Amino acid sequence: MHKSAITIIALLFSSLTLTAQEDMDKYVSALMEKMTVEEKIGQLNLMPGTSFTTGEPKDNPLLQMAAEGKLGAVLNMSGEKNLKILQDAATRQSRLGIPVMVGMDVIHGYETVFPIPLAMSCSWDMEAIEQSTRIAAKEATADGICWTFSPMVDIALDARWGRIAEGSGEDPFLGSCIAQAMVRGYQGNFSKQNLMACVKHYALYGAAEAGRDYNTVDMSRIRMFNQFMPPYKAAAEAGAGSFMTSFNIVEYVPATTNRWLLDDVLRKEWGWNGFVVTDYGSIDEVAAHGLGNLTKASVMALKAGTDMDMCSGGFIKTLSQSLSDGSISMEDIDTACRRVLEAKYKLGLFKDPYRFLDAKRRATDIYTPEHRRFARQMATKTFVLLKNEGNILPLKPQGRIALIGPMADNGANMVGTWAPMAKRSRVATLKETMKQRLKDNAQVDYAQGCNFTSDPVLQADGGAWIAAPWKNADTLMAEAISVAERADVIVCAMGEESEMSGESHCRASLEMFDAQQHLIEQLLKLGKPIVLLNFAGRPTVMTWEQSHIPAIMNVWFPGSEASDAICDVLFGEAVPSGKLTVSMPQATGQEPLYYNQLPTGRPMGENAQRFCLYKSNYLDVRNDPLYPFGYGLSYTTFAYSDITLEGRTATIRVSNTGDYDADEIVQLYIHDVEASISRPVKELKGFRRIHLAKGESTEVSFTITDDMLKFYNQQLDYVLEPGDFEIMIGPDSNLKNLKKTILSITDDTNQ
Ligand code: BGC
Repeated sequence: MHKSAITIIALLFSSLTLTAQEDMDKYVSALMEKMTVEEKIGQLNLMPGTSFTTGEPKDNPLLQMAAEGKLGAVLNMSGEKNLKILQDAATRQSRLGIPVMVGMDVIHGYETVFPIPLAMSCSWDMEAIEQSTRIAAKEATADGICWTFSPMVDIALDARWGRIAEGSGEDPFLGSCIAQAMVRGYQGNFSKQNLMACVKHYALYGAAEAGRDYNTVDMSRIRMFNQFMPPYKAAAEAGAGSFMTSFNIVEYVPATTNRWLLDDVLRKEWGWNGFVVTDYGSIDEVAAHGLGNLTKASVMALKAGTDMDMCSGGFIKTLSQSLSDGSISMEDIDTACRRVLEAKYKLGLFKDPYRFLDAKRRATDIYTPEHRRFARQMATKTFVLLKNEGNILPLKPQGRIALIGPMADNGANMVGTWAPMAKRSRVATLKETMKQRLKDNAQVDYAQGCNFTSDPVLQADGGAWIAAPWKNADTLMAEAISVAERADVIVCAMGEESEMSGESHCRASLEMFDAQQHLIEQLLKLGKPIVLLNFAGRPTVMTWEQSHIPAIMNVWFPGSEASDAICDVLFGEAVPSGKLTVSMPQATGQEPLYYNQLPTGRPMGENAQRFCLYKSNYLDVRNDPLYPFGYGLSYTTFAYSDITLEGRTATIRVSNTGDYDADEIVQLYIHDVEASISRPVKELKGFRRIHLAKGESTEVSFTITDDMLKFYNQQLDYVLEPGDFEIMIGPDSNLKNLKKTILSITDDTNQ
């Protein structure tokens, strides 16, 4: 397009948005002029919908609050009928008729459930991830929701932390791309099929010490800005409508009352202008952190830049008094109130408070065949093939297959954590689907084989739908052996239960559970080919499994279409293409483990085999992960040429050298050889997901931009320091698999 045409369109666009901004300002200002202090404070109040019952406002605290204009938003309540009653109370009975916002944790789908977010990140497929959030938004808005507490963009380096399941892994660059894709998918152009996104948990929630949830966080600002902040910043730049504060402290002050974090960084430095909500009860928890009671905490939170109080009741109970005694100003309340009202305006709630309450859409837009088809295909892209000795996989749909393990007949469990609207009982089990799909060609025999753990106390308390009834271990084992003895091949469906990851579900050891490993040991004695399907919400330590089991595929928790997706890949209808977005350790004691580490003064060097005195290493385990970041096998093989560098463009030829048409994820890493501060040994700076038919090859080019070379220095300035940069391209982050070249940046080439 001609340059001037672009300029005219850009001008038109900016003047349109300017007008829209002016309209919003006018509308909100006029409304605020009519509001009392109590009504303004009411807008800052978010309450749980769990206590909701139908009836007259006088009988129901939530309806009463809505009718009195003291409820800004509600969470975890759905369904057109109840939400209509609530919205009626807010819009028809309250003095000014301000609608309530309805929020929910729509984390990886609604009734159509996609794989857990950690799994989805392993697809490295931005379009598919965006589409999954678009579908989630379509379903949730058809059920009355207009605001989701997602994406969770916390970088997590420690697999002990249960919430690693909810994020996109350890890498800030990939995490930023995913954060933006999710915001785009949820929010679209704020049509009635879009949700407002809420970026969480700002900030550094994933850096909890020792991987224990809610624990202390302490880190330098250099690390913060280089490694942990990029996904939050990226999501802010993508225009996310809201942010959620984290439970933890940042520089010794809870995030919720941290003015530097909320006002200086998020608003002033990044120029973001949405509204900030706390996490559940965070203002209340300020007292436990030792910074003051609910009244004081509410003052600090508001003044820091928190706009909405999730379920502490601090704002609604104390702000009015704090205004009277001068601890806060009217301007403080107005600022927060304006931001919340602006969000409602953007969602179109003032034009039509019933916009998301279209009963017809519930029947047509939720759990549709099209959505389920997409979820199934998405799930196949998230499985990571870790080992495939002798090309056991894909399996031939013939002969006798023994399907063994506590996940084999457990549809509910395969959905994964944090899917409140999933109808778990209708999720087909692997046993059902495999039998059905192979009924004309193969015999599938099932045995549970073992309980998840050998100690019932360890079994996760995930509610009745999860906990499989405890059975006698000897009986289970005997059944499994007898089934396996008759089989040609054994498929083990094992791992964690769904609720062994997620909020407050942390683990101090990441190995496979004894009960499961013991069963595998016995099965191996039969000398038959074994495939392990590992279900997990985090990296599992599989050092023993890697040396004993011929084929291992990590399937995470694939969501509502799990069984079909797994069968698609097991039997070769789809080719695995997922690549790890977290390093898989050899031993739990290596955690936190991540590929983009800093060098030490006594570096051990990658892939070193033995203990080495006075080097940075362990006596009992090598430094390297068992499976590195970016790793994942395919049914085919790929070859990479050397890199050619022309100016700032690095090009590599990738060839499909095997027998299957397949996708490959080509990865670009950069290392700054010498800088004013120590820089990571390598950092992901680009990737491409490509499709190659067997025998086909293609060129993949990356243009090295300034942004890929820049970092935050000691003064926290974002700088490019001229010098040499190692450019590495390959199929995963392990040095031995990467092709290398050097890009020299002189002052002249530094644009
Ligand atoms: C979690 C948040 C979630 C909120 C509301 C909290 O316990 O930390 O991630 O959005 O509850 O359900």
